[in-house]
Amino acid sequence: MPDYTLMAEQIRSLAESEPLWLPVLANASALLNEALPDLNWVGFYLRDPRDGSLVLGPFQGKTACIRIAEGRGVCGTAAAKDEIQLVPDVHKFPGHIACDSASNSEIVLPVHSAAGNGEAGRPGIVAVLDIDSPLYNRFSEEDREGLLSFVRVIEECADFSGWYAL
Ligand code: SME
Repeated sequence: MPDYTLMAEQIRSLAESEPLWLPVLANASALLNEALPDLNWVGFYLRDPRDGSLVLGPFQGKTACIRIAEGRGVCGTAAAKDEIQLVPDVHKFPGHIACDSASNSEIVLPVHSAAGNGEAGRPGIVAVLDIDSPLYNRFSEEDREGLLSFVRVIEECADFSGWYAL
């Protein structure tokens, strides 16, 4: 099992030295890619507040779909439902978007921020973290918990204000 406590400390120290969302997400993708075995793609999609679509952000892996319409695929479902999606077999997920045909399982976690325009002033979704594996059933409950604590640090430390105006 990867050392999720160490990974959370590493992303915290990087984000505290420079909170701008772009370098934080770039380094977060690199950390995850190095620490987690059996991945073919790991990275972020940013939520476009104008239409709720997801646009490709920092990642490690092959070139990927640039824009995902609201509610589409595993990423769009995670953002629309504001729920982690742990998918043991992507071929059984209705509407899965096969950016990389090597993917067989994946986990997608919503990322929240005060810049995400949540309802009633609550932090809304500003991005999703998408992690894909060529193995079926790659992600466990321990991975879900460890990745959630990693995402919590990003939510706490990264500054997403005005990302879509860049
Ligand atoms: N897995 C995603 C599409 C993005 S790529 O795989 C990088 C999905 O179905 O939402």
